[in-house]
Amino acid sequence: MSSMSYDQAAAAADFIREKYAEPIATAVVLGSGLGAFADEVENAVRIAYEDIPGFARSTVEGHAGRLILGEIGGVSVAVQQGRFHYYEGYELEQVMLPVRTFGVMGVKNLILTNAAGSLSPDLQAGDLMLIDDHLNCFGVNPLRGKNDERFGPRFPDMTTAYDREFHAIAEEEARKIAKAHSIDKDILKRGIYCGLSGPTYETPAEIRMYRALGADAVGMSTVPETIAARHMGIRVLGISCITNMAAGMSDGLIDHEEVMETGARVAEIFKELLRGVIVRIGH
Ligand code: HPA
Repeated sequence: MSSMSYDQAAAAADFIREKYAEPIATAVVLGSGLGAFADEVENAVRIAYEDIPGFARSTVEGHAGRLILGEIGGVSVAVQQGRFHYYEGYELEQVMLPVRTFGVMGVKNLILTNAAGSLSPDLQAGDLMLIDDHLNCFGVNPLRGKNDERFGPRFPDMTTAYDREFHAIAEEEARKIAKAHSIDKDILKRGIYCGLSGPTYETPAEIRMYRALGADAVGMSTVPETIAARHMGIRVLGISCITNMAAGMSDGLIDHEEVMETGARVAEIFKELLRGVIVRIGH
């Protein structure tokens, strides 16, 4: 199983390199409603996931399902417009495959973004949250099974799953953007992301439980990709776009439309932040 998954990552990497030969510094995964950043990529080469050997198809509305290779401010990037989720029925190996493909391609930095519900009164819809750390509440670890040493060690360290230096860079860039737009509040907050399998949104009782466990935001992605990246020694920056108050945190119900709309509302600031961070991380 796992050697097959290495071969799959290697085959996908070869296929992508044939279409785009430049070494990639940073890979970016765009979450629900956040796909517009892909339009910022210059000299873009676009590849549909279905054309990449081994890649699954993106079935979720609001996820385009393609890989964009090109440049942001002169830095070569690979941008995933849409990702694979566990709730779609894919095996976690398939969910991790794009990140592992980037790893085989030599990508050293990964920016994971997502839409998330807030468990904290300090995080409102439209806020961006730097992921300080995560809780894996998928009920399974994606690295379960025989370990392939070509990816990384059997027991990967997760003490600094989210890179401290990247945190500092993102916070500096956020302050610059706030200043440039005369926004006098913090445009990038911080918190713990709790990853859940979905596809239901949570019950209010579950949200109270996750709050008690230390979660600030909940979502249905990112954790397996972070684990795959850390296994390979790829540095991770995680940014959540808070799209709604989690179940029971407000009077309203939660629907995918609202999640998508909030993503679109913050698109401009979000794009600027990603651009700033990518350029600062550099080659
Ligand atoms: N729960 C889980 N995932 C989500 C939410 C939520 O409230 N909002 C966006 N993704």
